[in-house]
Amino acid sequence: PEPGWTARTDVVVIGSGIAGLVAALRCRAHGRVLLVTKALLDAGSTRWAQGGIAAALAPDDTPDEHLTDTLVAGVGLCDEEAVRALVTEGPDAVRALIDLGAAFDRADGGDIALTREGGHRRRRIAHAGGDATGAEISRALLAELKDSGVEVIEHALVLDLLKDADGRAAGVTLHVMGEGQPAGVGAVRARAVVLATGGLGQVFSATTNPEVSTGDGVALALRAGAEVTDLEFVQFHPTVLWLGPGARGQQPLISEAVRGEGAHLIDHAGERFMVGRHELAELAPRDVVAKGITNRMRETGASCMLLDGRHFGAAMWEARFPTILAACRHHGIDPVTEPIPVVPAAHYASGGVRTDLHGRTSVPGLYACGEVACTGVHGANRLASNSLLEGLVFAARIAEALPGDLADVPEAATAAPEPGAGVLLDPARRADVQRIMTGHAGVLRGADGLAAAARELAALPGAASAAPGVDAWEVTNLHTVASAIVAAARRREETRGSHWREDHPERSDARWGGHLVTRLVRTAA
Ligand code: SIN
Repeated sequence: PEPGWTARTDVVVIGSGIAGLVAALRCRAHGRVLLVTKALLDAGSTRWAQGGIAAALAPDDTPDEHLTDTLVAGVGLCDEEAVRALVTEGPDAVRALIDLGAAFDRADGGDIALTREGGHRRRRIAHAGGDATGAEISRALLAELKDSGVEVIEHALVLDLLKDADGRAAGVTLHVMGEGQPAGVGAVRARAVVLATGGLGQVFSATTNPEVSTGDGVALALRAGAEVTDLEFVQFHPTVLWLGPGARGQQPLISEAVRGEGAHLIDHAGERFMVGRHELAELAPRDVVAKGITNRMRETGASCMLLDGRHFGAAMWEARFPTILAACRHHGIDPVTEPIPVVPAAHYASGGVRTDLHGRTSVPGLYACGEVACTGVHGANRLASNSLLEGLVFAARIAEALPGDLADVPEAATAAPEPGAGVLLDPARRADVQRIMTGHAGVLRGADGLAAAARELAALPGAASAAPGVDAWEVTNLHTVASAIVAAARRREETRGSHWREDHPERSDARWGGHLVTRLVRTAA
């Protein structure tokens, strides 16, 4: 669509989770910054993060040990240099957050309290408000944003990248929903574009992600011809509260930290089924526990497994996990007196828009950080609580690179939008995309199901096209991203990390030790 208005800035940052906020605050030192976010500033995934943020802060821990655990969880596909940057810069990045006012929980002696989660062999997860870590980080960063000089547009969905005559990113088009700003489609001209749009969990029926996580950044990047990689590695969190068959949308998360503090996974006969499946039992890496739960559900015919933390007692539940306790009680479960029914649900995209160590994508002038990016730190399966850390460290790295990168870049003389999405899907198709993905491309995958998913997704745009509007663009983005996930999942004929092919149960380093890059191919209408 033709933009009805144009704004100008030096750097436009899209998204207001930890990555977007840090990128905006840090880039402000180098010029004008405009932060654009789809809903309210704190509506994204960051504020839902429970367990915490991982960093080698304990006296008995080292960045090298954090590196080893991250590489093991990533099952051979992490970029070791990127992981080294993450784990060595991580501790100072967390201390900088504390200096900024983020109040992490303290142990009795006053040191930062650290817990464990799946795949970590040390206590290295810092947390806040017990199990409300993301909310506290978001609060602290938003307080900093107030007088920072960063301009903000809320309620604006990013549509497409603008490029100059040389193919360099020169801004974005937006659909603004009103709320005190000029509504409709507008353009922001900028010398650099930073994508920090978060995740894509809404591609599936049941997810820990909020409503806004519709893969907008990955869809934009695909349309802009940027390299997108590792999309087949969608991580399923092992434990969300089971709300009965057919639960849809955002599900209440039961943090891994609950297992980190000693809760046990049991089946309905009371057996600890993870013991013997992995040396770390309930604290094995996330993919191993999600598979363990799924397998036990199949073996026993049960609809869920149980997470038993009754031995914590009421005082510990109230002090350490107030958010989870309240969510469970809201749904009629009291974890103090009964085990919590749990199932896996879509949680995190380990892949995304491919970047180098400073957030540069394959399109000059386009950067990415946070969940939308694939920096190489997660490989085939992200280690628990590395995501907030990645947003923090790599957003700052973009700001570091910016002065050098922009030294010779004036504002573009021309800035034309990339060809857009074409036909927009009817918003009613959202449930169809989610049903197809959950049915055929979830925790368990196979060639036949994935082929059916590809067929069914391809048939959807044939349904009546919709008038432009946020709902229609969102479902179109979901459809683009879902199709890309299915294409990558069909190609990778092995089982690795969070990509579990029933028809190819083995890992094959010889054939599949590399990455799949996904590109959008446009066909003539
Ligand atoms: C959790 O609290 O279990 C989520 C942590 C994460 O996704 O890293």
